[in-house]
Amino acid sequence: MNEQVQPAGGPLFNPLSPDFIRDPYPHYERLRTVDPIHVTPFGQYVASRHAEVSLVLRDKRFGKDFVERTTRRYGPEIMKEPVFRSMSYWMLQADPPDHTRLRGLVVKAFTARRVEDMRPRIQEIVDQAIDAVIERGHMDLIEDFAFRLPVTIICDMLGIPEEHREVFYKSSRDGGRLLDPVPLSPEEIRQGNAANLMAQMYFQQLFELRRKNPGDDLITQLVQAEEDGNKLTNEELTANIILLFGAGHETTVNLIGNGLLALHRNPDQLALLKAKPELMTNAIEEFLRYDSSVQMTGRVTLEEIEDLGGVTIPKGETVLCLLGSANRDGAVYPDRPDRLDVTRANVKPLSFGGGIHFCLGAQLARIEAEIAIATLLRRLPDLRIDDIETPEWRPTFVLRGLRRLPASW
Ligand code: HEM
Repeated sequence: MNEQVQPAGGPLFNPLSPDFIRDPYPHYERLRTVDPIHVTPFGQYVASRHAEVSLVLRDKRFGKDFVERTTRRYGPEIMKEPVFRSMSYWMLQADPPDHTRLRGLVVKAFTARRVEDMRPRIQEIVDQAIDAVIERGHMDLIEDFAFRLPVTIICDMLGIPEEHREVFYKSSRDGGRLLDPVPLSPEEIRQGNAANLMAQMYFQQLFELRRKNPGDDLITQLVQAEEDGNKLTNEELTANIILLFGAGHETTVNLIGNGLLALHRNPDQLALLKAKPELMTNAIEEFLRYDSSVQMTGRVTLEEIEDLGGVTIPKGETVLCLLGSANRDGAVYPDRPDRLDVTRANVKPLSFGGGIHFCLGAQLARIEAEIAIATLLRRLPDLRIDDIETPEWRPTFVLRGLRRLPASW
């Protein structure tokens, strides 16, 4: 990657520039200080302080309005593209009452209790990943370690048969660009369509299978809800399965990867966590805060907003919420927000969003990361990351994560 450093005073918000991808935090600080409600050349409003981000996520005057927002950006033909059409059915992009209905159908599978029951299975997968490489003395923490866990768990939850899984393990993880605030190129749309059509074809077959042979899994539950009449349509069913598959996957890989990188860049914190494993639950919140795997989400103003951080925003405008910036806001974290501190009190990161779209998989992601990182520290205590200074980041902004993270022991 061409790692150019931007000149001081360059564009305030240029989220796909290599410098921004490598380290967005100085850029966020500049935004929060200089222009906390910044307007981009595309006419989007960018909120970077905790107060406004938190308000926008929770306030009913802001919604998703996906079709309208996307049509405005790309033109009216865009909804004919399969990938955009499919996204328009995601609960993540829906407003009430559709959102309430879609979320209600799956929420029970993600309760704290259900997720607690998955601990032994999560531990088993993590141990298998370490068993597979322990004799080798080195691995890529992303590909060999972090990657398999969330994919296997979501495959378990959805009821994807073992013999079908290899293709999911090999998938390219390139879907992240769909979420970035910079428009997709025609080539990226074409790739998105192809991946979406493949996924649709696969899941339609699996739905058929589960109609004939019901299992104790989410796809069976949703297929039954679809057959029940007016609970959800076939398109909604397929789209939301694809969402669950994607949402639960790269985000968690990156929480584990970003957390491990942050820890190894802060050897005092690494030593502390090894000495006091009971700090792990708090450490995971701090990893989420310090370098969130989801950096941004967005809303549309459903009416004119008179005063968002002193700015009037007309109806129908897009407001981008910089979660990663809110998490470093000194107004909420007065004690050196740019420092990783696994003992930090009152860490309440916005990394899982807030309000009605608060991440469905938050507790699952926390427990997966907790077990993965705790087991790694316990079983490979002398693990070292090969290149701690210049690891290679994936070129997406919203989903922040490393392409690879080679390590040895
Ligand atoms: C570290 C891991 C994760 C992070 C940082 C994360 C982050 C987020 C964020 C920020 C949102 C809200 C977006 C918005 O308000 O517009 C969200 C929503 C969502 N997440 Fe996650 N997520 C993670 C893991 C997971 C997992 C493991 C699953 C499921 C298996 C999942 C499923 C979802 C779903 C379905 C939604 C949409 C909820 C709704 O619209 O009501 N996420 N996530």
